[in-house]
Amino acid sequence: MAEQPDTIANTAQFEYWNATAGDKWTENQKVSDRLLSTLAERLFQHAAIQPGEMVMDIGCGTGATALFAARAVGPDGGVLGIDLSHAMLGLARTRAEAGGEAANLVLEIADAQSHAFAQGTFDLLQSRFGVMFFDDPTAAFANLLGALRPGGRLCFVCWGPLAKNPWFKIPRDAAVKFLGPPKAAPPHAPGPLAFSDTDYVDRILSAAGFAEIQINTEASELVPPSTVADAATGALSRGPAARMIGVHKPPPETVAAIRAEIERGLSPYYVTDNPRVPAYLHFVLARRPE
Ligand SMILES: C[S@@+](CC[C@H](N)C(=O)[O-])C[C@H]1O[C@@H](n2cnc3c(N)ncnc32)[C@H](O)[C@@H]1O
Repeated sequence: MAEQPDTIANTAQFEYWNATAGDKWTENQKVSDRLLSTLAERLFQHAAIQPGEMVMDIGCGTGATALFAARAVGPDGGVLGIDLSHAMLGLARTRAEAGGEAANLVLEIADAQSHAFAQGTFDLLQSRFGVMFFDDPTAAFANLLGALRPGGRLCFVCWGPLAKNPWFKIPRDAAVKFLGPPKAAPPHAPGPLAFSDTDYVDRILSAAGFAEIQINTEASELVPPSTVADAATGALSRGPAARMIGVHKPPPETVAAIRAEIERGLSPYYVTDNPRVPAYLHFVLARRPE
């Protein structure tokens, strides 16, 4: 197990992202970045990074959005990417060195909820799917608020409800069909869909001290692997079906049945050479009061 700094508050998440989940995300970086490319572009439109700005990328993972920010701020700006996963951050560092972004990009293992950030430093805190995993989201966003300069902005994208996100719903339903429903979790438990309820997100950000909160819910598209078989392989390695398979450890024939069900569910999106899967996302903007 990777060494865990004393300052990590989210110990279960640290363990999770430093085990299979982090390895799978690292191995599949190219597939994931392609999948999420359309919504990353939309995130950058909302974030409107300016040359010279100081940007923090929260839960930067293998680095796509932090690398983009490092190019966008240019030589007069700087970017801090933080994450819990040694493996994912390791790949982000390699990519930054290879791509020339390392000069103004610092990548650190840190828990957004508990890290002692330099106060009042950042113009922008951004994240693509890196802020839904906090045990205490209000404490985490209050901690992050302190890192922003007065008037500085927060901009992140998170998933909307399960029912409107077939990329999650189809693999989850397939796993439930063969393994039964997962153990009931408390509402808003940390996980990819923890922020699907916009009233909850608004309450957390208000309680943490953010102002001018805007939640733009938008229909978007994912760019999945080019064959439905590859898409099913991905769903068996990351996401809700993979999590349930990890818990139940079913025999190979059950995994094969889940795979077939996922392929059946996703096949309507594969009737063209250029498949797209609809997604329903919240782009969340807020500011630290002046
Ligand atoms: C779904 S992945 C997204 C990674 C990346 N933002 C992307 O879009 O490719 C979520 C990331 O959030 C990170 N993460 C989860 N909890 C965190 C915390 N408390 N502090 C910092 N990073 C965290 C995980 O390690 C993981 O890399």
